Amino acid sequence: MPRQLFVTTALPYANGPFHIGHIMEYIQADIWVRFQRLRGAEVQFVCADDAHGAPIMIAAEKAGQTPQQFVAAIAAGRRRYLDGFHIAFDHWHSTDAPENHALAREIYLALRKNELIDVRVVEQFYDPDKGMFLPDRFIKGECPNCGAPDQYGDNCEVCGAVYAPTDLKRPYSALSGATPVLRSSEHFFFRLSDPRCVEFLEAWTQDGRLQPEVANKVREWFKRDEAGQPGLGDWDISREAPYFGIEIPDAPGKYFYVWLDAPVGYLAALKARLDAIGVDFDAYLAQPELEQVHFIGKDIVTFHTLFWPAMLKFSGRKVPDRVHVHGFLTVNDGEKMSKSRGTGLSPLRYLELGLDPQWLRYYLAAKLNGHVEDIDFNAQDFVARVDADLVGKYVNIASRAAGFLHKRFGGRLSGDLGVEGRALLDGLRAQADALAALYEAREFGKAMREVMALADRVNAYVDQHKPWELARQAGLDAALHDVCSVCIEAFRLLTLYLKPVLPALAAQVEAFLRVEPLHWADHQRALGAHAIGEYRHLMQRVDAQRLDALFAAPPAPAAAPGGEPIAAEIGVDEFFKTDLRVARIVGAERVPGSTKLLRLTLDAGEGRHRTVFSGIAAHHAPEQLVGRLTVLVANLAPRKMKFGVSEGMVLAASHADEAAEPGVHLLEPGPGARPGQRVR
Ligand code: 2FM
Ligand code: ZN
Repeated sequence: MPRQLFVTTALPYANGPFHIGHIMEYIQADIWVRFQRLRGAEVQFVCADDAHGAPIMIAAEKAGQTPQQFVAAIAAGRRRYLDGFHIAFDHWHSTDAPENHALAREIYLALRKNELIDVRVVEQFYDPDKGMFLPDRFIKGECPNCGAPDQYGDNCEVCGAVYAPTDLKRPYSALSGATPVLRSSEHFFFRLSDPRCVEFLEAWTQDGRLQPEVANKVREWFKRDEAGQPGLGDWDISREAPYFGIEIPDAPGKYFYVWLDAPVGYLAALKARLDAIGVDFDAYLAQPELEQVHFIGKDIVTFHTLFWPAMLKFSGRKVPDRVHVHGFLTVNDGEKMSKSRGTGLSPLRYLELGLDPQWLRYYLAAKLNGHVEDIDFNAQDFVARVDADLVGKYVNIASRAAGFLHKRFGGRLSGDLGVEGRALLDGLRAQADALAALYEAREFGKAMREVMALADRVNAYVDQHKPWELARQAGLDAALHDVCSVCIEAFRLLTLYLKPVLPALAAQVEAFLRVEPLHWADHQRALGAHAIGEYRHLMQRVDAQRLDALFAAPPAPAAAPGGEPIAAEIGVDEFFKTDLRVARIVGAERVPGSTKLLRLTLDAGEGRHRTVFSGIAAHHAPEQLVGRLTVLVANLAPRKMKFGVSEGMVLAASHADEAAEPGVHLLEPGPGARPGQRVR
């Protein structure tokens, strides 16, 4: 019976595109999953958008969309990243999907039946203008400790004081500016302090399934405080309408707090996946040997080691077998924190610049371990590792040997290999179990070092036998054949050992070697007198210029503070569908009967003039426009208007809400631009 694994990564909030931290977690989990599959395990590897909660509801409203539309737009952008970095989830779901609504309700009802749900009256800040209770992060005011203005409801960024939102002086709603009022409402609580929960969690968290540092941290949460209060407090799991979430059964107008239904999304995603492949969800989860594994970051340990296992346990479900916690990723020693340089390493920009996703996979693998340690992406280190290890040590082995094999031996390997060669290969094979143990323990960094040490051995063998010299001397054909064949066999083994990290490269190598997709057990096999294919270039060195470009320009912020949210992400190809041209305004006149429109006559270097109607009359005097340059959308379909046909559009900047900030500002290219030049 193959090992059965149900593996997830944390569900990202559907309020923005992935950042490099998400990609790191997915790569970590993907490597682990690919390793398990190489070993023959059957894995369901799923994730989903974490769709609910007040921040997403508010962001959607600002964008003039329903939360569903907003979340769908974010979801539509996911695939490019996942495919781009070779992250192979079996399914990507949403916590707003019907499976999740149903499962969250079921779990809640089971907890209620188990007498673990309480109703209590809670007093909270309420925004009378918006007609809603305010989440902590939407309440601001003066710090009660140092008096700094504009501090958030939970802590002061100036003096570091921690307090409750009700402690703020002169509190105001960050949504409307109104002064919030205290209002009571009934909230639902999950009684985590119930002795049954405490007993279960003390055992579950301390039985060796968690990393030691995580288990130790969690143990502190069980301690009673000085007043003898139990460490585990009850958990407020409800929010008042309006809220984007799942309505609580028998409690109209009340919704599950997003963190209640988010982890349930793991199960919903699994269910959707199993439905798609015709496997029964309950039967799948009932398999005694099934292992449920969650990869998460260190910031969400509480949810995954207290609330989530307790929710599952006391609703009569399978509990997680392991929670794999990782640290954070910083970029260039935390340089990313500098606001002027943007947000560090943009994964999309990385792909758009044509940087090889496997470089990043390898580099992260080389840095990752099974502990909760932060790791740093360092650009120089990145270049050095990829060039020295992947290209210099590993790929070189194949490129050095393949040429001779083709020129001299018709691409066929020698069956013999010689005593030394066989010993070298036996040594490589002997490391398979140790490497497997490292992969299993997520000690990827150690595994990569080990593989590179093996590559060093192979390169030392090559340097010692000097195939280039053997090739020059008569009568040494057999020796040359053996040495090159050993290299190819060694290369096959190293490829297998790197396959979880470099899946696409491994596929290229399999094609080159003309072998079936490699499985872990194939380390025991030998190619023998096998004919290989033509060697094609496998991997390039890092292009330092492109890497510089990755850090040079700050990536676009996710949202303009206080302004309009940034539109859904597009790729450069999509951008270039819009043909923008420099155009000179050769004529401008008011349009009789319209207060808004000007009729512009434009020269975009086409040998003819275009007429464009533009809604800038309120802010631009026609006589001042003539002679100026501007930017024309040149490939917009002509549009018939009341006053004539408009053959394009000119670009102008404005606030979405003209009442809030009047003004329309015609765009003007810098001096030196010529009509007809493309804007790119
Ligand atoms: O911290 C976060 O980004 C959450 N959206 C993670 C949720 S993980 C799971 F519980 F859904
Ligand atoms: Zn303060």
